[in-house]
Amino acid sequence: MPSLSKLVAVGLLVAVFLHRLYRIIYLLYLSPLRSFPGPKLWACSRLPLQFSMLRGRVHKDFMNLHKQYGPVARVSPNQLAFFTAQSFQDIYNRTGSRNFKKDRTYYESPPNGVDHLVCAVDDAVHLRHRKLLAWGFSGEGLRTQESLVMRHVDAFIQGLDKETPRGKVDICAWFTYTTFDITGDLMFGEPFGCLQESRLHPWIQLTFNAIKALVFIGAAKQFPAFYAVLMRIIPKSILQKGIDHFNLSAEKVDKRLGMGTARPDFMSAMLKNGLSEKDGHYQENEKIMSRAELHSNAYILIIAGSETSATALSGITYYLCKHPIVLQRLLTEIRTCFSADADINFNSTAQLSYLNAVIEEGLRVYPPLVTGLCRLPPPGGDIVDGHFVPEGTTVATHCYVTFHSPSNFNLPEEFIPERWLGTDKRFANDKREALQPFSLGPRGCLGKNLAYAEIRLMLSKLLYHFDIELRPESATWTDQDVYYLWAKPPLMVNLTKRVDAF
Ligand code: HEM
Repeated sequence: MPSLSKLVAVGLLVAVFLHRLYRIIYLLYLSPLRSFPGPKLWACSRLPLQFSMLRGRVHKDFMNLHKQYGPVARVSPNQLAFFTAQSFQDIYNRTGSRNFKKDRTYYESPPNGVDHLVCAVDDAVHLRHRKLLAWGFSGEGLRTQESLVMRHVDAFIQGLDKETPRGKVDICAWFTYTTFDITGDLMFGEPFGCLQESRLHPWIQLTFNAIKALVFIGAAKQFPAFYAVLMRIIPKSILQKGIDHFNLSAEKVDKRLGMGTARPDFMSAMLKNGLSEKDGHYQENEKIMSRAELHSNAYILIIAGSETSATALSGITYYLCKHPIVLQRLLTEIRTCFSADADINFNSTAQLSYLNAVIEEGLRVYPPLVTGLCRLPPPGGDIVDGHFVPEGTTVATHCYVTFHSPSNFNLPEEFIPERWLGTDKRFANDKREALQPFSLGPRGCLGKNLAYAEIRLMLSKLLYHFDIELRPESATWTDQDVYYLWAKPPLMVNLTKRVDAF
């Protein structure tokens, strides 16, 4: 006779097995998402999607899903990925009660536990932060910031000038030094000193490590039952590094507060109506932030405003080097329009039509935001791209796949800036509105105009002063993994100074 404990153990195993079996049958044949196409394994377990993200290959895996299943795929028991222009409108461009809120499981608060505008799910908190920051990104804000940006871009050119005798340059590193110094100066009242020292400030190095750690934390959060256990496995030293990282930025904010509000920078914008010393969210007066909110926003803005632009610049430069005819056409435009370095500024570079087309095409083939921004439909569910999506379903339009889809763009894998000039018939049927690298709607990128201005200025000055050539070790540079962001290796180029341009 088997003992009672054995019987209980077998009974438990059978119960677990039956529960799993029922769950699989439910997810495949009864769930409201059952009619969406996608691999069966992905539909009945969260593991394949999380493995794909942890392997850094989610963009490639989604590309294959899109090829096989079309404009929408079920990528997890309760998650749909879309790859169309209409889905961008439906998911991100709604306001009021039909707004698709951010999915909290994908948006972590910073270590102080106080939301910044990117992770705030509460629309009122987000709106208060966004309104306060808006001046810093307005046309007037941009004009007053131009001289500050210009100083750093000139230091970038001088730094490269010193590097050229060595023969080879990691241009991706130099773009990163510059964009972090610009955003650091606009936020903390002082640059990180990357350009001066020709190296990344340790805080920035930590940023990249922290983002990779976030992929692991994000994966753990998808399994709430095991979250506590998984978090215990992550070494304490790694978690502490994340806290130190945040604290260093908070110290810089506190130091900046001592400088007042005369500088035309992001901090002055946020301090326009003063500051609350109360911890957490400030709710009585909707036009002010607490010190803790300043800490959180400064932290996210440095990352949102620096890594993205540096990535875009690196991608565009790589594709230019790989396409000599495009590069030559752009060089001709820049070098004939400008007869002196002093002519190159925000306004003059905005007039260069080929440069603008090159940037657009670069953002398409190598988007800084690679994956999708996860949102939830409003109560009762809603329509996305003609499909009813029930409440509780996570949805996102996946940037890389949407921008590379042949249903949206002709010759999607080719780098052809002419598609944006409207003169080449091959691209007459391109769905231009499927390109949304900055997202859109009430949560769309606030720094879009600054990003374009910076990118145009840096590319123009770089190509005005130097001839550029890709080095063989970077020939396949875009074959990269993705951990929320591209894991970019050095982008090695040869730069030759145009003596008469200096
Ligand atoms: C090529 C460069 C850039 C790209 C591709 C980009 C992309 C994006 C995207 C996709 C979002 C939406 C994030 C979400 O919904 O979770 C976003 C938000 C944001 N970006 Fe950018 N960004 C760029 C440059 C910048 C710059 C230079 C700044 C400022 C210095 C900036 C500031 C912001 C802010 C403040 C938000 C939050 C807006 C909100 O939640 O209301 N970005 N960006």
